[in-house]
Amino acid sequence: MSIQWFPGHMTRTKKLINENLKKVDMVIEILDARAPLASRNPLLAELTKDKPRLILLNKSDLADPARTEQWIRFLSEGSTVKAVSVNSKNKKTLKHVPKECKALCKGKKWVNRRPVRAMIVGIPNVGKSTVINTLAGKKKAAASNKPGVTRDAQHVPVSREIQILDTPGILWHKFDDQLVGLKLAALGSIKDAVLLVDEIALEVLKFLSRTYPEALVRRYKLTGRGDEPLTAEKLKAMDVHDLMDQIAERRGLLVAGGTADKERAARLIIKELRDGIIDRITLEEPEDPARGWDPPRKPERDETAE
Ligand code: G4P
Repeated sequence: MSIQWFPGHMTRTKKLINENLKKVDMVIEILDARAPLASRNPLLAELTKDKPRLILLNKSDLADPARTEQWIRFLSEGSTVKAVSVNSKNKKTLKHVPKECKALCKGKKWVNRRPVRAMIVGIPNVGKSTVINTLAGKKKAAASNKPGVTRDAQHVPVSREIQILDTPGILWHKFDDQLVGLKLAALGSIKDAVLLVDEIALEVLKFLSRTYPEALVRRYKLTGRGDEPLTAEKLKAMDVHDLMDQIAERRGLLVAGGTADKERAARLIIKELRDGIIDRITLEEPEDPARGWDPPRKPERDETAE
């Protein structure tokens, strides 16, 4: 499987982000709590190394809470980089964000005189506009997923503590790993890419059967041969194509002749993963982000060339 990616935006993005960085005191980096590493652009840490950074692990309502806690500990660094989990559709979970921003700028000369100015940055679909709109309380952000940051960006007052730049910085992951592309495709973060839904679903099923076996059995009422209960061990040993067929049958997704409609089953699995219906699932863990997945394949060509 080869996932196409967006080539050639890095230099321009870097320039635009740098321009807007001059206008702010700190950066709010949004990551997808379900795949914090895959949804992170390493360029950002480099660009913002002199600024405090608040990392929002967004969509935490869909992520595995235990893993989110692990990621919070892993991503927080000293007194200038702090990670917290949020669900940006829920205002309550963002309530502490202004205070966190202020705390990260503690010690700056201006901190008691004016609000902190922050810029929101993240890859497409990670929730940048939702965060801005929820924080600002109105429709403020019209983020388009193009690598642009407008030159006349304004600071929107959010509270006494912070103002945010009304136009978020759009980043892409530096894409040199098929596994990163696969995770982002599974979560629906790359939609423009050329993707084969059944291949994604098979990889997702493999991952789920190794990492979240109980959730998979429960959701799709999976059974072993002759309807015997399916243990996690048996599930792991099962052929993933047979698993897909069983899910199709359980849901009545059949083609003429009564065989499994693999494409509809694949779409169902991907949709239910994205909607958090299978369970609250996180696709990677800090210590070993590739655990549960087959070894990543090398891209066929360098799609990250600038
Ligand atoms: P972007 O600006 O970074 O591109 O992302 P945007 O805010 O447009 O959010 C992308 C999608 O993610 C939206 O869904 C949005 O509702 C959803 N989303 C953002 N934050 C959260 C969160 O914390 N939890 C959950 N569950 N979803 C979140 P959409 O399907 O594109 O639109 P819609 O459902 O809002 O109509």
